[in-house]
Amino acid sequence: METSATPWIEADLIIKGASEVLTCKADGRDNEGRLSVGRINDGAVASREGRIVWVGTESALMEEVRLMRGGEMLDADGRVVMPGLVECHSHLAWAGDRADEFQMRVAGATYQQVQEAGGGIASTVESTRKAPDEVLRAHARRRLDRFMRYGVTTVEAKSGYGLSLDQEIRLLEVYRDVALAHPVDVVPTLLGAHVVPVEYTERADDYVKLVCKKMIPQAAKKKLARFNDAFCERGAFTVEQCRRVLEAGLEEGLLPKLHADQLSYMGGTEMASELGAVSVDHLDHAADAGIAALTSVAGGKRAPIAVLLPGATFFLGEGGYAPARKMIDAGVRVALSTDFNPGSSPTQNLWLMATMGCSQLRMTAEEVIRAITIEAAAALALDDEVGSLEVGKKADILILDYSRGAQIPYRYGMNPVWRVYKDGKRVVKRDNPGEG
Ligand code: NIG
Ligand code: FE
Repeated sequence: METSATPWIEADLIIKGASEVLTCKADGRDNEGRLSVGRINDGAVASREGRIVWVGTESALMEEVRLMRGGEMLDADGRVVMPGLVECHSHLAWAGDRADEFQMRVAGATYQQVQEAGGGIASTVESTRKAPDEVLRAHARRRLDRFMRYGVTTVEAKSGYGLSLDQEIRLLEVYRDVALAHPVDVVPTLLGAHVVPVEYTERADDYVKLVCKKMIPQAAKKKLARFNDAFCERGAFTVEQCRRVLEAGLEEGLLPKLHADQLSYMGGTEMASELGAVSVDHLDHAADAGIAALTSVAGGKRAPIAVLLPGATFFLGEGGYAPARKMIDAGVRVALSTDFNPGSSPTQNLWLMATMGCSQLRMTAEEVIRAITIEAAAALALDDEVGSLEVGKKADILILDYSRGAQIPYRYGMNPVWRVYKDGKRVVKRDNPGEG
């Protein structure tokens, strides 16, 4: 009888005993052809040197995978195992607080009225400009720690509260410096065109010129940003101004994103899709033409991901959740994010967005779980690296204190994280997740 050497896969981390491993593969589909999470019952995952080397059932594990000397074997003991979450739209570094403005809105003022009265983004710009680098770095670090405890292993971070050449570059440098010493991957985005700063009142086009001719080239030259974003809204920038900004970014190799159709319909979604944006975000007031644009593929690139931010809609309390069902049924790929920022969404709880995805946007559990993992990774053009448990990807792995994936959107407002592994190393250990 011929014998052949057993092709052992060597691993330095094995997580076994999962009630369900949610793989979240990009093209995972159910029997009816709908995008699905992909679930392995009684599953296990193995990694080596920070990369996933094996995913499968526990019964196959013992025959196929061997733990290397000094490696770690962990029993998930009937818990859910899934990829680290991807937070694909956040405003991470800013100073100050807008709790009083929230109360003005509770008393009846709209978000835009507060902005017109000199509050809103301008007030955060004022506090942020005054904050020393070290304070901004400390805020960013603490917020990354908090995201990590919520199971987020990749965070997109926008500038946008500096609004001058030096201040915007400074915010991006804060991200670069903090990312160097933090386990969470930080993906920087220049948002120079957030609003027109006070010094440029009535001179919006001059400010756009500054963004296009100075900020974008400098951010690109110093390799401080991967994406280039703008806020297309009344009181911020017109579709044409945003087009100039995104085109200037493309010339410098920065990938376009856009805040579009958040408070009113502007048509930014159509413009950004035409330019091949990687994502278009907010979309509460997107029109049918915008939804159609999100399914079309521009210049050989794939269609943009729709990043929906139900936390901002919820917190503004002005109604008008994004037409998620219509989008998904039209074939649009949808991601969810917190939009973490001091004005419209001061939360870092991405799990809560999954619940809002179900209860407010009428997305299914499968859709919202994908929306905070693989679709969010696609919204950062990082879906080859993170967002799913597949061989070759980063070993960014969560173990939740739940026994079924369906509990993820159902048990709401809490943090289900029991363990977080980033690049195959344990970075969070919470033994009583129910306690907050
Ligand atoms: O994504 N829409 C524009 N920017 C943020 C709000 C920023 C703020 O209010 O400070 C958003 O909702
Ligand atoms: Fe935003």
